Amino acid sequence: MTTVVRTPLELAGHRTPGQPVGLVPTMGALHEGHLSLIRRAADENGLVLVSVFVNPAQFNDPADLERYPRTLETDTELAASAGADLIYAPAVETIYPPGFATGVHVAHVTDLWEGESRPGHFDGVATVVSILLNQVRPDRSYFGEKDFQQLAMIRRMHRDLALPGEIVTCPTVREPDGLAMSSRNARLGSEARAAAPVLYEALGAMREAAGAGERSALKLAILGAVLVRRAAQFELDYLQVVEPVTLDPVEAVVPGSRAIVAATIGGVRLIDNVELIDRGHEFHVEYAHGDHR
Ligand code: PAF
Repeated sequence: MTTVVRTPLELAGHRTPGQPVGLVPTMGALHEGHLSLIRRAADENGLVLVSVFVNPAQFNDPADLERYPRTLETDTELAASAGADLIYAPAVETIYPPGFATGVHVAHVTDLWEGESRPGHFDGVATVVSILLNQVRPDRSYFGEKDFQQLAMIRRMHRDLALPGEIVTCPTVREPDGLAMSSRNARLGSEARAAAPVLYEALGAMREAAGAGERSALKLAILGAVLVRRAAQFELDYLQVVEPVTLDPVEAVVPGSRAIVAATIGGVRLIDNVELIDRGHEFHVEYAHGDHR
């Protein structure tokens, strides 16, 4: 039975000393991508906690916050089916008590890309994730690679603020046609949904070219952009090759470099990313401090 708890105190009542706790932070509206994180957490921990909190601080547009799906009952059932033991669904005041006056800003890694088009969004995510990690104090927290810039920011913040536990990252889960799973996909009309896998096809073509020896980030980005633009309905926001820790654009592709893309189709903004060339041993050493994959 999966229990819903509302406060850190209630949460504490379900913990057993010595039992490893895995946290999967979500805003609800769970899909297969979240369930893969929960399954992984269930494999690696004695107690799995899924937080469901629609975080007002990370929405730029109040209308978006208003219409964000709130489906706690279904989420609880889905999370239970994937191995969750507890749902943590705090009230807004439990996260942001009256008089709350603090915000977390992670510099540099949040400046570009999503940071440019969604001012304040990453500060809202950083603030809520640091509160959740401090309230729950998990042994491991699970995040998907789908939101790659968010992940890079959380890794940075986790180290900088010495937040508890390890950050575990999990690969993007995709639909059979390659579209990355996202709660936004439900908002795609049928024509837009049919065209949407072009994003992943473009990233795949870039990866193939990089695998075949192309090292120019510019040439790879042009290759990808031509493919995305072929699907006339897409408005391309950015398609870039970046360094995976700082998210700075690079000129030459090296192991670990990421291709990242954001584009709007049918009024829905989609993001995706892939690693262009597999990381070798060196890169794993770079990431070995405090988190693992
Ligand atoms: O990725 C999300 O669903 C949210 O940004 C997160 C990490 C749960 C914080 O609200």
